[in-house]
Amino acid sequence: MTTDRPSSLLSCRSVSKYYGAMAAVKTISFDVRVGEIVGIGGPNGAGKTSLFDVIAGLQPADEGAIFFNGEDVTSASPQELCHRGLARVFQSVVAFDSMTLRENVVIGAAYGHRLRFVPPLMLDRDTLERADRALDTVGLLDRANVPIASLPVLDRKLAMFASALATEPLMLLLDEPVGGLNPAEADRVMAVVRSLAEGGLTILLIEHVMRFMVQLCRRIIIMQHGEKIYEGSSEGMVRDPTVVSVYLGSATARRLFHFLAAS
Ligand SMILES: Nc1ncnc2c1ncn2[C@@H]1O[C@H](COP(=O)(O)OP(=O)(O)O)[C@@H](O)[C@H]1O
Ligand SMILES: [Mg+2]
Repeated sequence: MTTDRPSSLLSCRSVSKYYGAMAAVKTISFDVRVGEIVGIGGPNGAGKTSLFDVIAGLQPADEGAIFFNGEDVTSASPQELCHRGLARVFQSVVAFDSMTLRENVVIGAAYGHRLRFVPPLMLDRDTLERADRALDTVGLLDRANVPIASLPVLDRKLAMFASALATEPLMLLLDEPVGGLNPAEADRVMAVVRSLAEGGLTILLIEHVMRFMVQLCRRIIIMQHGEKIYEGSSEGMVRDPTVVSVYLGSATARRLFHFLAAS
């Protein structure tokens, strides 16, 4: 049987989110097509994480509509969205520290996979296999039985990727996946993200590290004061006068321009 999947997996239509009188997200519209990897950048406080909160159902949208995989999910809960195939990796590393790496990922595999009326009481083989496949994908299967608290920050970050992947998502939301990592660690995360994208996973990521962003994303959205001020290619972004003046600065824009020309 063939399923009719829309080419636009995520669609935001004039989405706004207010905190009091302040619009953290202001009439944002954009689409992410199946198999795309799209980046969101912008200064601190621009509303990037708030936009993720609204997309992932953690905060209700005050205006506009959100469609995921052809369904109107504007009022859907985070759990419902996760079961529909939208998985999110948060900016900060949060784990069940008293448990092993595998036990942490099994939780994602058991509770984030498909809609269930009753939470699973017993772990079936499929759940355990999904957890191990996800650990293998991020290169951590050999450390599955280690207490997660004993792992370095990079591995804990990748463990969060694995928990999200164990839900077998259609789309992954990544909030600053390389924030706080050194260049070598960032390259390891980049290799994982690139292999996920090559495997066909659709990815929307927020990132400040522009070297990472421009290498991974064909299309970039830049936000400022809750609004979208740019959407287009990396090459277009480094030449955009507004993006250069409010976000990149001329030195970074020049450096990225040469980096893109050389790659
Ligand atoms: N839960 C919240 N309650 C009130 N204000 C918030 C909340 N979350 C974010 N904000 C405010 O919304 C604005 C956008 O924040 P955020 O989305 O975290 O930006 P970014 O991720 O781009 O740095 C900021 O001014 C921030 O203080
Ligand atoms: Mg943020």
